[in-house]
Amino acid sequence: MATPEMTTRQRRRRRYRRVALWTIAVIMVGAMVLPLGSYVYTGIQPVHAQAIEDSNPRSNFWREVRGGQSGYTAVQGQETDVLVQNGGQNWRQYRNGLLANYGGWALFLVAVLILLFFGLRGRMNIDSGRSGQLIKRWSSWERFVHWYTAILFVILAITGLSILFGRAVLIPLMGPRGFAAWADLAIGLHNVIGPAFAIGVLVMILMWIPRNLPSKGDGEWLMQAGGMFKEGAHPPSGQVNAGEKIWFWIICTVGIAAIVSGLILDFPNYGQSREAMQTANLVHGVTALIWVAVWFGHAYLGTFGTEGTLEGMTTGYVDVNWAKQHHDQWYDEVREGGGETTRASPGGGAGEQPA
Ligand code: HEM
Repeated sequence: MATPEMTTRQRRRRRYRRVALWTIAVIMVGAMVLPLGSYVYTGIQPVHAQAIEDSNPRSNFWREVRGGQSGYTAVQGQETDVLVQNGGQNWRQYRNGLLANYGGWALFLVAVLILLFFGLRGRMNIDSGRSGQLIKRWSSWERFVHWYTAILFVILAITGLSILFGRAVLIPLMGPRGFAAWADLAIGLHNVIGPAFAIGVLVMILMWIPRNLPSKGDGEWLMQAGGMFKEGAHPPSGQVNAGEKIWFWIICTVGIAAIVSGLILDFPNYGQSREAMQTANLVHGVTALIWVAVWFGHAYLGTFGTEGTLEGMTTGYVDVNWAKQHHDQWYDEVREGGGETTRASPGGGAGEQPA
């Protein structure tokens, strides 16, 4: 945002930067929309495709198989006499087509938008500077649960994305043998860490549900987008603001869907059909990608995006001026309830003296 004190040169530089960033954004969106156009175009060319199929004598046989024609299978049990499981073909097309292409582009776009936002808005600093007084924000148990879950999430995200995009992105970089070794390790880690992560998410949800219930000020906070687009705007907030609440409820819904579908895939020995596995795989892919995309925003705001937020989750304490700026109602509540502030120690953590 331009302020009266800015020189003409600063304004011009800011304008150039804004134009450059918007140009990059338009190119990125164009790069995503164009392939979608070609997808739709290919979809409306059935006559040509039909002609090719008719000229192939085996296509009638294949069509019958795809139509669910049953035959004889020596192995009896689940899906006896199914010649070719039709859903598998559809699943492969969705998974390697729509999901891998557009999921990849969507993640990329979110990362670019966050970079653009950072370029235009810069870091959101503590307006009145640091006070040197700290106030307790997160207990040791809360921080343990958060970082346990976060670390496992990052491992799952890296290994999961490697499995989904490995063919397109990693084989050109590592070569087929290198990728095979990494994919083997990645899938093993992903399968083992998934259930341990699920426990962390469950504990986190139970621990933080009460403070994430909707409250009166949430609407106003959202109307002002948390003041993110306007310097100096700080809508009132309790311990967690409406943005954090949305993140929390995404974990409770999208996250739980990713976890449940992941567990169905992780334990295939409970008699689920191939169709159930294919559906679980697609649900898992879509929900996990949404989760990772939203997490990009969470991790950005918790680190580079906002001054003084990360230290709350690493040391348990935040600067008093940070608390007044971002969570004023919570700060008042803590003070009214007799909560003390502490002077920051020279090392950056909490000191001894209450103020
Ligand atoms: C690894 C990267 C991550 C970083 C840097 C990070 C950072 C942070 C920070 C600094 C806070 C405190 C915000 C505040 O004081 O208001 C926070 C809160 C929180 N984080 Fe993370 N986080 C990460 C990953 C995750 C993951 C993977 C999850 C969930 C699966 C998660 C869930 C939460 C929740 C639920 C809150 C509290 C907000 C509430 O009470 O609803 N975080 N995070």
